[in-house]
Amino acid sequence: MKDIERPELSWDEWDELKDPRPEENDFDAVVASAMTRRAFMGRVLAMGSGAAVMGTGLLNTTSAQAQASNRFAFTPIPIATDFTIHVPEGYSWAPVAKWGDPLFSDAPAFDPKSGVTKDGQARAFGENTDGMELFNVNGHEIIAVNHEYANTSQNLPLTEGEVTSADDVTLLQNAQGVAVFEVAETDGVWDIVVDSPYNRRITHTTPMAIQGPAAGHDLLKTEADPDGVLALGTMNNCGAGKTPWGTYLTCEENFNGYFGSTDEGFERSGEFARYGIGLEGRYAYEKFDARFDISKNPNEPNRFGYIVEIDPADPTSTPVKRTALGRFKHENAATAVAPDGRVVVYLGDDERGEYLYKFVSRDVYVPGGDTSTLLDHGQLYAAKFNDDGRGEWLALTPEATGMADEAEIAILTRLAASAVGATTMDRPEWVAVNPVAAEAYCALTNNRNRAVKANAGGDETPVNGPNPRAENNYGQIVRWYPESDDHAAVDFTWDLYVMAGNPTVHDDAYAGSDNVNEGNLFNSPDGMMFDSAGMLWIQTDGDDSNEDGFAGMGNNQMLVGDPVTGEIQRFMTGPNGSEVTGITWSSDRRTAFVGIQHPSAPFPDGDGSLARSTIVAIKRDDNAIIG
Ligand code: FEO
Ligand code: CA
Ligand code: CA
Ligand code: CA
Repeated sequence: MKDIERPELSWDEWDELKDPRPEENDFDAVVASAMTRRAFMGRVLAMGSGAAVMGTGLLNTTSAQAQASNRFAFTPIPIATDFTIHVPEGYSWAPVAKWGDPLFSDAPAFDPKSGVTKDGQARAFGENTDGMELFNVNGHEIIAVNHEYANTSQNLPLTEGEVTSADDVTLLQNAQGVAVFEVAETDGVWDIVVDSPYNRRITHTTPMAIQGPAAGHDLLKTEADPDGVLALGTMNNCGAGKTPWGTYLTCEENFNGYFGSTDEGFERSGEFARYGIGLEGRYAYEKFDARFDISKNPNEPNRFGYIVEIDPADPTSTPVKRTALGRFKHENAATAVAPDGRVVVYLGDDERGEYLYKFVSRDVYVPGGDTSTLLDHGQLYAAKFNDDGRGEWLALTPEATGMADEAEIAILTRLAASAVGATTMDRPEWVAVNPVAAEAYCALTNNRNRAVKANAGGDETPVNGPNPRAENNYGQIVRWYPESDDHAAVDFTWDLYVMAGNPTVHDDAYAGSDNVNEGNLFNSPDGMMFDSAGMLWIQTDGDDSNEDGFAGMGNNQMLVGDPVTGEIQRFMTGPNGSEVTGITWSSDRRTAFVGIQHPSAPFPDGDGSLARSTIVAIKRDDNAIIG
């Protein structure tokens, strides 16, 4: 059943193809490969020194598991390798929004063979659904969702995936960005409310204000925007976040891949190399839209790679790029409010050997107060994990980094984190903050370069505490406990919640931690969100070959983890070829909305249709709360 392959490379594969890292192995990769599984587990537990502080390390998993297994309200399901979705008995799923579904009645209907028109795409649900949040606005259920990137073989079927014209580029630009739209439930079935006044498409050309320290900086000025304060579009929107004041945070991840040069002799700077901005864009934008041609507009890429704040309650509002939260391949933005009212935003940079960050606002959040500049002033930090189970957030200041000012740190954040010696990580994907305990989790999805190659800045990536395996193809989830239960604190302790692995194939560290077993095998954790009860929903974006080291893992999936016991159970399996990414709940918590990104055809419309990224609604058959 593997005859239908997704032709597109993943973004990390594409990046490394265009920008190969040096091949030399400077590191002692022997360390991890020599580690037996028992020794590894001893190491994890040793790192969680002071079990009282750690609360619930992996040590007590087995006994606590038995006591608390009723926290799972479902019977776990087996893996799948087919082209549809599976959920536990007593649950059902149904599509809510599919690529090409009109948000407005003036958009033409989706054509199963030709897809969507260029203009219709700007009025319809976009491609590659990813991070999302639901907002209740005046009693209306409003979903804001990212359309991360394009799948040209599906989006441009008439040219067999080739980008051949300015119109093709416009179509792709309109298929990406963000959608905001109302949904409503009738007799248990959720649908888009076509023509709702809340509906909105944000694309690669929507005007965006630039605020925070980088606004107006010389590096952000272009011919079209000589003041450096108004960008066009948001790109490669990956994970998301929600502020306590009801706005949506969308995260610009692999923005580098949209730029290229029509001048083959253009010499890129070291900063461009660090961010992976090269001479050939992934979708040939530079050939048809000069804004993306770095030989003509060398500052344009500096206007991407930020967190963008969108007000889902006002479709006429101008989205704002919040430069104080730094510029890198932003995965998601997980917010917390510190005891003193300051706002904390956790941020991952998803590339091999890059860093984990957090922002702490200068001003405090006052419910009902002015929040228009709360995310413009504050301190950005990068995480340093020590092998003894402690860690600290390193402030990225001009003094600590040797950089000119806050603006330069906001624009060239990766260089700042390198300068202070933060810990190189195994591709930080989503961060999730537990609403019922003072702790946060980050999915470190995988890193085949760990202890093999340096990161793009030349920082070495030896095995270290939270990234303890060389050539790590499985991934892990690290969690930390801020000092004094204060997410704004500089110090923290940490441990590993889970190391994914395959105990049916390996008997060393690659078997995974004790809470991984034959019944819940998975690899490459990515999307993560806590539900209202403090259970952790984990989505995967990994190798779904079901072969060799990945045998027994099946398609990408969604699992639920109990932070207290460490127990993890499989809740859902996605269609073959897809990534399961993005989860949010209806206001009554009786529906979970889950994203299926880049499925292989024939999902979900059956034979003869192009493949369509889709948001599905999952409900319990008894309509009870599911998260
Ligand atoms: Fe868009 Fe790092 O996933
Ligand atoms: Ca992701
Ligand atoms: Ca991923
Ligand atoms: Ca993806």
